[in-house]
Amino acid sequence: MTKKIQAMVVFGTRPEAIKMAPLVLELKAHHQLEPLVCVTGQHREMLDQVLALFGIVPDFDLNIMQSGQTLTEITARSLRGLEKVFSQVRPDIVYVHGDTTTTFAGALAAFYAQIPLAHVEAGLRTGQKYAPYPEELNRKLTGSLTDLHFAPTASAKENLLAENVPAEQLFVTGNTVIDALRYTVRPDYVFSRSELNSLPSHKRLLLVEVHRRENLGAPLEAICRGLRRVATENPDVLMIFPVHRNPAVREPVNRYLAGLERVLLIEPLDVADFHNLMQKSTLVFTDSGGVQEEAPSLGVPVLVLRDVTERPEAVAAGTVTLVGSAADRLVETAANLLTDKLAYAKMANAINPYGDGRAAERIVAATEWYFAKSGTRPEDYSVN
Ligand code: UD1
Ligand code: UDP
Repeated sequence: MTKKIQAMVVFGTRPEAIKMAPLVLELKAHHQLEPLVCVTGQHREMLDQVLALFGIVPDFDLNIMQSGQTLTEITARSLRGLEKVFSQVRPDIVYVHGDTTTTFAGALAAFYAQIPLAHVEAGLRTGQKYAPYPEELNRKLTGSLTDLHFAPTASAKENLLAENVPAEQLFVTGNTVIDALRYTVRPDYVFSRSELNSLPSHKRLLLVEVHRRENLGAPLEAICRGLRRVATENPDVLMIFPVHRNPAVREPVNRYLAGLERVLLIEPLDVADFHNLMQKSTLVFTDSGGVQEEAPSLGVPVLVLRDVTERPEAVAAGTVTLVGSAADRLVETAANLLTDKLAYAKMANAINPYGDGRAAERIVAATEWYFAKSGTRPEDYSVN
């Protein structure tokens, strides 16, 4: 029997876990590949929620999270832990995802150990060093250490070609987040958070998810003021806000929004609850990356609380609009969409520029091809 290829999947935060879970499951189903999972634990509770939902038990858990952790601490603790892991097992390939500090540390640790590196969700760019911070540089630096780039879209591939990444290292796969949606969204879904099963049917649901580091401080305060006005000025809405566990997010959110009649502040939801709630929502307000990809495929308009996005596809298609963090713009855009049926209908198109739910399958096929050094190269995913 030929030896299986050991494929180590490294992740640490909620979004990486959601987007890597389909890959772990696909690797498990493959007879020539042996998946190993190493989590840094950059997130704890929010990571564990995802692991539990997908039934993934990590082989290694670095458990690095500290309250109020700095970027340096996350990087240093992850690097040290990964060095130990790579000295115990030497995988044939390491996969990292996206643009968190775990991503960059995982890429650097694989490089130091001279292990081939695959980057899932490669090639997203704003072209601005500090927007988003630190993600733009995390993904760029990771890209320069990568041997196999799995770009979710054709425009992400173009970004990498423009940085002189050799075309033979590049695959367009679609985004694994669409694979994840296939596991979670159901027409007859029953929420595990029981209060969500009895939401008032006459209210329009507004779903909020805000957390980004570059919005902390004054921008987040402005966003919260805007959200408070949206909730108080529109009597037929119910705003549901599962609040990220970062204390720097919780403090202003509680100060501006706790106790308001039409606002429900809750703990982070497991991803199946969150996706199914999103499907029932009228509008989504977010600065999250993943949510910007999920909502368009569910036909729910998104107001992005940032000035720039590395995900231009849904903006071009009209499902996502950038509103920045200024309270007035947020309130005006929401008011317009809540009153103007035509404007709303124009945005509420289910479009799927981000994938067809088969991204993990393509990543595994490309991995096989990479190791076989023969056979047919897997074809790029294309929207049409
Ligand atoms: C991180 C990523 C960001 C990603 C986001 C997804 C970096 C630098 N940032 O940002 O790219 O968009 O995750 O959510 O990699 N905390 C808990 N429990 C948890 C998770 C977080 O208590 O399960 C608290 C801790 O106090 C922690 C703080 O939140 O120190 C911040 O977490 P951290 O991972 O450093 O930053 P995020 O803003 O979550
Ligand atoms: N999400 C979740 N529970 C919540 C809020 C969000 O599972 O209460 C999911 C959401 O569906 C998306 C992911 O978390 O898949 C996005 O993660 P986050 O916003 O933390 O990070 P980003 O995508 O901005 O890096």
